[in-house]
Amino acid sequence: MDSLSNVFVTEASRFDGPVLVTGAGGCIGSWALAILTRAGVPVVVLDASESKRRPRLLIDDPTLDAVPWVVADIADTEAVERTVAEHRVRAIVHLAALQVPFCKADPVAGARANVVGTVNVLESARRHGIRRVAYASSIAAHGADENAPWLATLYGAYKRCDEMIARVYWQDWQVPSVGMRPGVVYGIGRDQGMTSKTTVAILAAAAGRDYSVPFRGPTSWLYAGEVASAFVQAVATEREGAAVFDCNGVPASVEAGLEHLRRLEPAARVEATGSALPFPFDLSDDPLRAYIGDYGRISMQDGIAETLGAFRALLDAGKVDADSIA
Ligand SMILES: NC(=O)c1ccc[n+]([C@@H]2O[C@H](COP(=O)([O-])OP(=O)(O)OC[C@H]3O[C@@H](n4cnc5c(N)ncnc54)[C@H](O)[C@@H]3O)[C@@H](O)[C@H]2O)c1
Repeated sequence: MDSLSNVFVTEASRFDGPVLVTGAGGCIGSWALAILTRAGVPVVVLDASESKRRPRLLIDDPTLDAVPWVVADIADTEAVERTVAEHRVRAIVHLAALQVPFCKADPVAGARANVVGTVNVLESARRHGIRRVAYASSIAAHGADENAPWLATLYGAYKRCDEMIARVYWQDWQVPSVGMRPGVVYGIGRDQGMTSKTTVAILAAAAGRDYSVPFRGPTSWLYAGEVASAFVQAVATEREGAAVFDCNGVPASVEAGLEHLRRLEPAARVEATGSALPFPFDLSDDPLRAYIGDYGRISMQDGIAETLGAFRALLDAGKVDADSIA
């Protein structure tokens, strides 16, 4: 991907050993894996799924097939510990989690993956003296605080809990971490979760299908490569403390993004319906950028154009199925 080579880069010399990416079978993890492997940084994956479908959209087969891929539940303490020990992991990008609808459908599974999983990661970091840990919280954590004007979800509650747990790991055992609260991520590989529909609209435009995004109004256009780059940058050096930051990308409405999409593909039949997402989107990335340093950025216009172009190529190559649009 063009932006991967030009904008979202890292250097192997900044790492002192393998990086464990949990949930690398997912959207952000696929991009993190792509950035790391491209730079020649040794990586290890832990994911509950053995499917490499999403990373294959970004990484060539020989490179991906050379990555150790541990199929395990992040809630399995032994498996996480064994993976960190056996692969001599020196940094962890922790992304494995269940998203909003899955947490609602199965709250216990959600708590195991999203809370116990994070404890397992921090516990392994503590045992092995790992001082480079970055984990995904979420914009949904804003809804978890009492009297917050945003929607409270179990998912957001679990993520908020993770932030508190990380703070205690620093306070009690000096395990440093960087927590990030991504907004609405879009880009290649974003195909599940409540907010994946802006990406589906881009796929629909590429495939010549009608599509209606089921929410409208304010959102964030956070390019998957950009947020993945932030996670990589966060573990490219040893940290102190347990800071948590918003990672919002470009604040703009769903309608503004779709309008740009129609400029790129005048035949696109995409619209936005329903009500606004119940989360804040006027959040600044400046504190995160000041803390971890530059991790690249891409405008909404360029990000949508690149995603549209990439979907066209993937559809032509038969690597993405237009029938997945729902
Ligand atoms: N995509 C977004 O807009 C967004 C926004 C805010 C926060 N986040 C957070 O960022 C992280 C990555 O998001 P994403 O969009 O790439 O998610 P995704 O749903 O695309 O991928 C999640 C990955 O985690 C794996 N996983 C799920 N449960 C697991 C378990 N119990 N054990 C091991 N692996 C498990 C899945 O197999 C999948 O490969 C998540 O923590 C998510 O909550 C995402």
